[in-house]
Amino acid sequence: MNNQLEKIKEEALRQIQASGTLDTLNEIRVAYLGKKGELTSVLKSMKDVAPEDRPKVGQMVNDVRAIIESSLEETKAILAKKAREEQLKAEVIDVTLPAKKSNVGHSHPNTIALEELERIFVGMGYEVVEGPEIEYDEYNFTKLNIPPNHPAKDEQDTFYINKDIVLRTQTSPVQARTMEKGKLPIRMISPGRVFRSDEVDATHSPSFHQVEGLVVDKNITFADLKGTLAEFARQLFGEDTKVKFRPHHFPFTEPSAEMDVSCFKCGGMGCRFCKGSGWIEILGCGMVHPHVYEMCGIDPDVYTGFAFGVGLERIALLKYEIDDMRLLYENDVRFLKQF
Ligand code: DAH
Repeated sequence: MNNQLEKIKEEALRQIQASGTLDTLNEIRVAYLGKKGELTSVLKSMKDVAPEDRPKVGQMVNDVRAIIESSLEETKAILAKKAREEQLKAEVIDVTLPAKKSNVGHSHPNTIALEELERIFVGMGYEVVEGPEIEYDEYNFTKLNIPPNHPAKDEQDTFYINKDIVLRTQTSPVQARTMEKGKLPIRMISPGRVFRSDEVDATHSPSFHQVEGLVVDKNITFADLKGTLAEFARQLFGEDTKVKFRPHHFPFTEPSAEMDVSCFKCGGMGCRFCKGSGWIEILGCGMVHPHVYEMCGIDPDVYTGFAFGVGLERIALLKYEIDDMRLLYENDVRFLKQF
C-alpha cells in the first residue's frame, strides 16, 4: 500500500510539474483527487485493509492528498501569474504610435446656406415653420389663388399622387396652412424640399429646396417688403449689395415682383457671373393677394402682408460659386470637402 501511494504521489507531482496550463492542471486534480480519482479509489479500497492498519493507511492517504493539493495550489498560482503576464504583454498599447487620422464631416453647402438664411430671418424676429412634402392640391394651388384648370398649374410640372394629393411644387402652401391657424400677426419662414417633374441639368432637378417667407400684420406695406428683403440681401451678400424689384406675376401676390441683387462678383459692372448685366435674380415676392386671405379666413380689409420665395440651391450655387446644381446632389466628398 505504501508503495502504491508513493507511486501515485510521484506520478501526480511529475504531471503537475509538466502541466503548462490551468486547464491541464485542473484535469490532473480531477484525475487524482476527483470522485473517481486515483487517490479516492485507494480510500475506497480501505475495506480490504486490516482494521488495525486502517488509521495508519488513512493517515498516509491524507498526507499524500495534502502534498498533491499543495503542489496543485502552488503551480496554479505560478501558471495564473504567467497567464496574466502573457495577456498584459499581448494587450500592450504603444502610446507613442501616431493616431489614425479620421475624417471629420461637415455641413453640405445647402445646409450652410439654409442656416445662414435662418440666422438672418430669425434675427429679424421670424419663426421657422415646417409643412408636409406630400400636400393637398388645395393647399398647393387652390388656397394660393390657383384655381383648378389655372394655367399656372402647368408651369409647375406637378407630381400627382392622386387627383387631390401632390408632391408640393413650392413651399408656399405653408403660407396657407399658417394663415388658416389664425394666430396673428405672422412673421415666419418655411424651408423645405419641393418637387417638379423637371429634367436634370445644370440648373434643374426634380427635387430641390425653397424657403418661403410670410409676414401678415396690420399696416404692412410694400415698403416693409422692400426694406426687409434689401436687409436680407445685404446680410447674405455683403453691405454694399443693392437690390432692384422688377414687376412680375404670381397668382398669390398682388402686386408681385422679382428681386435682383447687384452682382457681388463685379459689384454691378457686368461680368461672366452676372452674364454682363450687373444684376442677379434672387427671389420672387409680393403683397399677399386678398383672395388668399379670404380663403384662409383672414379679413383683407384689416390685415395686409407680404410673402417671398427663395430657391435654396440658387443661393448655395451663387454664394459658393458652384456652376452645376448636380454637384450638390452627387455627394462626392472631394466636392463637399471644399465648403
Ligand atoms: N412659390 C414661388 C415659386 O415657386 C416662389 C414665390 C414667389 C413665393 C412669390 C412667394 C412669393 O411667396 O410671394 O416660384
